Amino acid sequence: MPARAVSILGCGWLGLPLAKHLLKLGYSVLGSTASPEKIPVLQSCGIRPFLLEAVPRLKGEKISAFFKSSLLFLNIPFECHLKDPSFYKEQIRSVVQHIREGTVEFVIFAGSTAVYPETLEDATEDTALRFPQGNPRAQVLWEVEQILLADPKFKTTVVRFGGLYGPGRPIGLFLAGKKGLSGGDKPVNLIHQQDCLRVVAEIIGHDVRGEIFNAVSDCHPTRKALYAAAAKRAGLEAPEFLSEGRRPYKIVRNDKLKKRLDFVFWHPDPLNFSESDE
Ligand SMILES: NC(=O)c1ccc[n+]([C@@H]2O[C@H](COP(=O)([O-])OP(=O)(O)OC[C@H]3O[C@@H](n4cnc5c(N)ncnc54)[C@H](OP(=O)(O)O)[C@@H]3O)[C@@H](O)[C@H]2O)c1
Repeated sequence: MPARAVSILGCGWLGLPLAKHLLKLGYSVLGSTASPEKIPVLQSCGIRPFLLEAVPRLKGEKISAFFKSSLLFLNIPFECHLKDPSFYKEQIRSVVQHIREGTVEFVIFAGSTAVYPETLEDATEDTALRFPQGNPRAQVLWEVEQILLADPKFKTTVVRFGGLYGPGRPIGLFLAGKKGLSGGDKPVNLIHQQDCLRVVAEIIGHDVRGEIFNAVSDCHPTRKALYAAAAKRAGLEAPEFLSEGRRPYKIVRNDKLKKRLDFVFWHPDPLNFSESDE
């Protein structure tokens, strides 16, 4: 049984179930939240709780104790409402400072496939990324990855998650009944929460350091097909999309993840979601 301690910075929608999953696997878990009312929740799950917030500098009590584990799952969200996306870079820089002062030797970073342009039909981890037209969010995301990967004090593995769905985050129901929507023929790049947890646990279990992985399920149905199926299942009216002809789209490939981690998705096709997936 693994005796290792894992710190999870951000026990939210993904971080909290991950913490529970790792506890079941025998790890001890130190977990943070920015909400004081969640401290007892974390505690009741068996997580050693910390109240921490990066604003952008990381503040809170007993910060140094949080960084006394050997592994950190870095899971601060890249908030969409940020006026200046480089705020995120400052948040991560502050976390890095604390990592350097602690005992963490391995960081797993919850990145995003948003780092790839929307017109990349075959996005792999080897794709050279440039940001000529200036997509500031994608650029910041990529720079954050570089800051972490290049640090000599610890090793980082970046997991570029696709759009997350699962319990409490159903697929596209907010679009039900809407009309005149754009982008119906665009394929989706999604991953179910359960597969996210398994990917992270596999990376930890196999100690795969210094890598980048796309974490996106096998199948890429179009938005039109997926949202129509979701609406039908919920007994709602399917959204209507404009006929726009073929438009640029993005498909993110998961071959490296499957090969390197011998990974099989439990939810390979978002079209086959079931009640328990939502
Ligand atoms: N949503 C997507 O489709 C998607 C796609 C790709 C990648 N991702 C990435 O996946 C990760 C997990 O996302 P999620 O949906 O689980 O996010 P979430 O539910 O919003 O949880 C985020 C966690 O981080 C904490 N947090 C938020 N702001 C913080 C700050 N400034 N300082 C310290 N902690 C902070 C939250 O605290 P509280 O506990 O107080 O809420 C929460 O525990 C994120 O890194 C996100 O960028 C998301």
